[in-house]
Amino acid sequence: MKYRTDNIRQPPIVKLSEAARRYVGSANFIDMGQGLPGHVPPNTVLSSLTDRIAHPLTHRYTTDQGHLELREELAIYLRRHSRIDADPQKEITITAGGNQAFTGAIFTLIEAGDNVIVPSPFYFNSVMAIKLAGGTVTEVPVGTGFSPDPETIEAAITDKTKAILLVSPNNPTGAVYEQKVVDRIVDVCLEHDLVLISDEAYSRLVFGDAEHYSPLRRRDGHENIIVLGSFSKDMGLSGWRIGFIVGPSVFMDEFMKVQDTISICAPTASQLLVLGALKSDMNWVEEELQRLAMLRDFAYLRAREIDVFEVTRTKGTFYLFPKITNCTDSGKLVLDLLQATKVLVLPGNIFGSAGEGHVRISIGPLTADAIDDAFDRMASFFSFYKVE
Ligand SMILES: Cc1ncc(COP(=O)(O)O)c(C=O)c1O
Repeated sequence: MKYRTDNIRQPPIVKLSEAARRYVGSANFIDMGQGLPGHVPPNTVLSSLTDRIAHPLTHRYTTDQGHLELREELAIYLRRHSRIDADPQKEITITAGGNQAFTGAIFTLIEAGDNVIVPSPFYFNSVMAIKLAGGTVTEVPVGTGFSPDPETIEAAITDKTKAILLVSPNNPTGAVYEQKVVDRIVDVCLEHDLVLISDEAYSRLVFGDAEHYSPLRRRDGHENIIVLGSFSKDMGLSGWRIGFIVGPSVFMDEFMKVQDTISICAPTASQLLVLGALKSDMNWVEEELQRLAMLRDFAYLRAREIDVFEVTRTKGTFYLFPKITNCTDSGKLVLDLLQATKVLVLPGNIFGSAGEGHVRISIGPLTADAIDDAFDRMASFFSFYKVE
């Protein structure tokens, strides 16, 4: 049987989980592969859902765009934290996770043969979605500090290019793109009439003096800008599958055709939990961000002690993305490391050709003790291992 998906790679995390299966569950396995934080919402948030669980409406679809009260709360949240103004009636849709928002946007925008420019390394699910839709991807390697270079991006535009994707703060590099870089890329999009898709799943995960800058903060260009977000990372609600998309109302009318086809609406109970989360005081999110800030500082100190790690210190997310001196096969390196130390990290090559030679280390769900232990094991591994 010929499948339409034959040319799409298997989800890399699924393949790695298979390799790690014999270690998972063993007492001293440390998982630095998963891109998740470690916290759970407080009881006040959970009870906001239990209070509504018996209500008949909790068991039914919401509108395709999502629960209106949730969209209204989200509009306030976006104004407060990202300084984005979006009309909850026309410009926001709740989705089953950020991935569904992105895939829906791609299926709304891309025709077979259309091209999307993607700074590399990239979040692999984005590329999978573009290819599923019959689009092509142009990988443009990022420059110093993992920052995309607007001129190189502009030079990659062809008459097939439809959109440019930016992910800031970035998975896998952790880079937070500066305002001037984002603004210049918006200008490029406007000059060439392209759509800028801005994946802001990690918007709250910025540390030190860094600030998250959404292209929707500009006063112009909104017709060409689509933003997507997620509650999986800052709120730790990945299992509830809620994200969102913000875009001009003309786009949203079209997006609704895809949304209705794929899922009708995001799960109602999950929408209600996120509503409870947004209405809470959110100190629990702030506490988690502070915990992650401390763990990041610690992990960077430990990473710098390993000679073969060439570490670029970035300002966002819970990922470190060191380059490993002389490494040309990060897939093999990761499997050897797993076998020898029971520490799972992700090979950089799953994030595109510019990721080869790197590994992605996630500290999201770990305690300081587990991070310490993992770096001890990695330090002793790299003291004898010959990298190739
Ligand atoms: C950059 C980026 N966007 C989107 C997502 C997907 O988030 P969600 O769980 O909301 O689908 C992820 C998850 O890892 C991500 O790294």
